[in-house]
Amino acid sequence: MDKKTIRDVDLTDQRVLVRVDFNVPLDDGTVTDDNRIRAAVPTIRAILDEKPRAVILMSHLGRPKGERKPELSLKPVAPVLQDLLGEEVHFVEDTIGDQAKQAIEELPRGGVLLLENTRFYPGEKKNDPDFSAQLAELGDIFVNDAFGSSHRAHASVVGVADHMAAVGGLLMEKEIEFLNNALADPGRPYVAILGGAKISDKIGVIERLLETADLILIGGGMANTFFAAQDIPVAESLVEEDAVDTAKQLMEQGLDKLVLPTDAVIADAFEADANSRTIDVMDGGVPDGWRILDIGEATIALFNEKLQGAQTVAWNGPMGVFELEPFAKGTFAVAQTCAELAQAGATVVIGGGDSASAVREAGLSDKVTHVSTGGGASLELMEGKELPGLAALNDK
Ligand code: 3PG
Repeated sequence: MDKKTIRDVDLTDQRVLVRVDFNVPLDDGTVTDDNRIRAAVPTIRAILDEKPRAVILMSHLGRPKGERKPELSLKPVAPVLQDLLGEEVHFVEDTIGDQAKQAIEELPRGGVLLLENTRFYPGEKKNDPDFSAQLAELGDIFVNDAFGSSHRAHASVVGVADHMAAVGGLLMEKEIEFLNNALADPGRPYVAILGGAKISDKIGVIERLLETADLILIGGGMANTFFAAQDIPVAESLVEEDAVDTAKQLMEQGLDKLVLPTDAVIADAFEADANSRTIDVMDGGVPDGWRILDIGEATIALFNEKLQGAQTVAWNGPMGVFELEPFAKGTFAVAQTCAELAQAGATVVIGGGDSASAVREAGLSDKVTHVSTGGGASLELMEGKELPGLAALNDK
């Protein structure tokens, strides 16, 4: 990374203001997936080892639209972090101002404080200079470890960096290393696997991959739009009508690189206990009243074959509706192949969001090279876009 990190600065006796991405799922006040919190621990620990005056953590949670919404308070995150870190984590019910300042004053030396949701203030999303200045008053040095939020040009990610030295954390560094550097100069063959519901989210990524990857395997709901582009009937399957022409163009551009499913598991309802069967996609398409919910066995075998020998693999998006057990096979098969390739020495990078959850659910996250904590951020980076939160940091 050509940006400074916490290793390049003196943190001793400093109030270190750290942007983390604690945008985690909550169910009735309980954190249901702590991976993003876990991922921030090495940076917090490394800062604490430097004997700072205080570590002040800030994050957004959900989309409260600039208003205080109690159900989107970061309060339930503090005890989870405390357990993972093994240090007391204090929480203050405001993000800026006197209450936040007082909480910092009252911290013991080297204490850790979590501020309330930055998005409770409208200034956050507007990257408002006054709000940024108020955040900046809370620290002496800024650390951005919120890779997953760094595609957002918001005050706690970008604006605050105008006011003080601004460096990256260890998670930020790791994410950039794998999602940018490793994929920009990949060992070959480089095979990308794309899935998920929408093609429209991934057009930029496909265009970039047509230049950088050797093969692009397409599964998940987005494959349906490619089928529709070939006039294959898809019945009730999810299709993005607006993206059919784009799919046609991408197929023309990527004739020798795009690999589409040959068979599919279809169901007569979007439910786990629906009737289901496997069809050959080319053999008349999907019958009326049915929808595609997973790739079929022949496609699993085809993708597996195409992946053999790959030195670099990037995977983003599930192959089917893996939340429903009968339609999870394709996604878990790809996860398994990814893990085997990584174990054999390939660099295997899993983009955040659903594919990251699938790899975790399969118990394979420590068997692949890197599982990103970023959803949108990992896609934008794979697309070759500059992340505002990274650009705002001081150059090395
Ligand atoms: C994410 O979950 O991708 C990040 O935390 C960004 O959240 P946002 O899409 O609400 O900006």
